[in-house]
Amino acid sequence: MTSRPFIVAIDGPAASGKGTLARRLAERFGLAHLDTGTLYRATALLVLEDNADPADPVAATAAARRVDQSLLSDPLLRDERVAHAASVVAANPEVRQALLDFQRNFAAHPPVPARGAVLDGRDIGSVVCPAADVKLFVTADPEVRALRRLAELQASGVAAIYSDVLQELEYRDTRDAGRGTAPMVVPPDAVVINTTALDADAVLERASDIVSRAIAG
Ligand code: DC
Repeated sequence: MTSRPFIVAIDGPAASGKGTLARRLAERFGLAHLDTGTLYRATALLVLEDNADPADPVAATAAARRVDQSLLSDPLLRDERVAHAASVVAANPEVRQALLDFQRNFAAHPPVPARGAVLDGRDIGSVVCPAADVKLFVTADPEVRALRRLAELQASGVAAIYSDVLQELEYRDTRDAGRGTAPMVVPPDAVVINTTALDADAVLERASDIVSRAIAG
């Protein structure tokens, strides 16, 4: 292993299982983890707290410039209203630019003692860390993702309806994949893991094999 941090880039749509995978891979391989969705969610939360419009580029860009590490563990970030607004602010190129340095800095200088980092999001392999050592694209059928998200919401005590959850996921998929700047794409050099019929342990084992091979060089 070189002294350069070892980077795993994980992209994919909402509720595909990429967040769980990123967290567990980081634990297993002694890597730091950054869920880059929290940066967009924190931006959205700041906008909503100011009673501003997430689609207003000036408000959204100013909010993105205020995002720092201390905002990334706020439980309010998990709110569905915030998730929706995050997808709106994420379409703004200046917001993305404002959040890019934070992400690249994390990848270049993972918190000690980590020897590298796992970043998960939508544009990690394509834009944030195009030279990542491992690129994964984690996906699943929308209906299965909606069922997973529904179960998560219900487990946290939020009343939700399957058809609404599915519609919201499809809204976000379309927005995240259709925007002009850094859309969600499958990087050409990524390994695609379809989790439709896999549980979290099976996904972890499949990804761990790929990471182990990359570490061994
Ligand atoms: O992964 P998530 O649901 O927490 O992401 C919230 C929103 O942020 C999502 O709709 C798209 C956006 N996002 C992005 O555009 N780029 C990233 N690297 C991560 C998230």
